[in-house]
Amino acid sequence: MKIDAIILAAGKGKRMQSSFPKVLQEVAGKPLLQHVIDSTKELKNCQAHIVIGEQGALVKKSVCAFKRSKWIKQAKQLGTGHAVKQTLKELRPGSVALILYGDVPLVKSATMNTLIKSAGKTNLALLSFEQDSPGGYGRIIRNTNGKVLGIVEEKDASKEQKKITEVNSGIMALGSSQLQKLLKGIKNQNAAKEYYLTDIVSLANENKIPVKAVKLANKEEVLGANNLEELNELERSFQSMKAKEFSKQGVKIADSARIDFRGKVNIQRGSRIDINCIFEGTVEIGKNVTIGPGVIIKDSKIGDGTKIKAYSFIENAILEKNVVAGPFAHIGPDVHLAENSEIGNFVEVKRSKIGKGTKAKHLAYVGDGQVSEKVNIGAGTIFVNYDGKNKNKTKVGKGAFVGSNSSLIAPIKIGQNSIIGAGSVVTSDVPAERLALGRSRQRNIKKK
Ligand code: UD1
Ligand code: CA
Repeated sequence: MKIDAIILAAGKGKRMQSSFPKVLQEVAGKPLLQHVIDSTKELKNCQAHIVIGEQGALVKKSVCAFKRSKWIKQAKQLGTGHAVKQTLKELRPGSVALILYGDVPLVKSATMNTLIKSAGKTNLALLSFEQDSPGGYGRIIRNTNGKVLGIVEEKDASKEQKKITEVNSGIMALGSSQLQKLLKGIKNQNAAKEYYLTDIVSLANENKIPVKAVKLANKEEVLGANNLEELNELERSFQSMKAKEFSKQGVKIADSARIDFRGKVNIQRGSRIDINCIFEGTVEIGKNVTIGPGVIIKDSKIGDGTKIKAYSFIENAILEKNVVAGPFAHIGPDVHLAENSEIGNFVEVKRSKIGKGTKAKHLAYVGDGQVSEKVNIGAGTIFVNYDGKNKNKTKVGKGAFVGSNSSLIAPIKIGQNSIIGAGSVVTSDVPAERLALGRSRQRNIKKK
């Protein structure tokens, strides 16, 4: 079946109290509209028609649409029905029109498919849900037999109708030829003086087109965001849905209300995540990984059995198996930590490779380093990589021991199994198997 998805994104979003278009507000670090586009992209044989308004150019350049998307301008925002009307010329004969709202971002493609099926070739299908405090939503009006008669918008609802808790998600599906026919009948004689799309439900009844309301149990998918308060609720709904998904896959999440996933995150079973962690971009986490509280991980890959302790920040890094990092470690960008290595508290590692079993456990800066296996980097060691103009490299050979509070002035090479005496300022290469002392000799002077 051909699907013509119509995504409404032209509204001004005044209730958001921001000069920024509403559909570009973010949930989980991604514009609302992008969520809708991404789910629509998963539908088979689907072409999208995205309706944009005044700030359309900004909307267009801020999201990534898929190949078969068309941008359609609605010059004046005269209502959702008027917005859909702008797309009618583009709809393919015989297709099913699926209407989506740019500010209802979390609806899944599986739910879209259910609705499309329910519409079939002859029905108008809409997605409704139960909302205890239904303010702001259109109410579903049914007769005593449960038949859907129409939708009444908040502004037009009587006192009695306002008490109805079954509300309209805004998402509908029906044959595009039926849509064309029904839209001709909508008028703007209502409290908002807008052309409401929702009026096509009562028009469908008048035209003997069967109306089916698919009531969704999981309302988190269809919550809309008109103001900042609702946007916050959406964010938490999204995060709790994600947390639930991970729990089902065997990931232990300490508190689903205190976690944020903002990207493409994959976590394997047996891993445990403490509170207040943020995952951004593309993050791959292996099996049995332990992540302490307040950890932030961006665009990184974490190997099986690795432990990341409290308040560490990891960006653009690969941590292999059984690494220990933190607490308070800053790792990345462009860092590769090999198996069993350890980067401890207040250690910063940037643009560096750290070999198997190497340890830098306390208060060090490792920048532009190539550190081999089983190296010990003592507390307070600095890789002095920047000379004011260029970033220079430090190479440390296998088994070397860098004593505490040493400065390695790059570019420099420390040979295999060498020892750097604590407090040294090392300005020239150290061959293998040497003890390098780059500090002044101690003098003990007799007191007067
Ligand atoms: C709409 C529905 C309401 C439903 C709710 C669900 C109507 C009349 N009402 O109300 O029944 O319960 O969504 O969240 O449809 N838009 C345009 N052009 C316009 C007006 C709006 O493209 O001229 C877009 C907006 O950008 C938005 C969407 O349509 O993405 C919905 O508009 P909005 O004004 O937010 O409708 P609601 O009042 O939330
Ligand atoms: Ca809305």
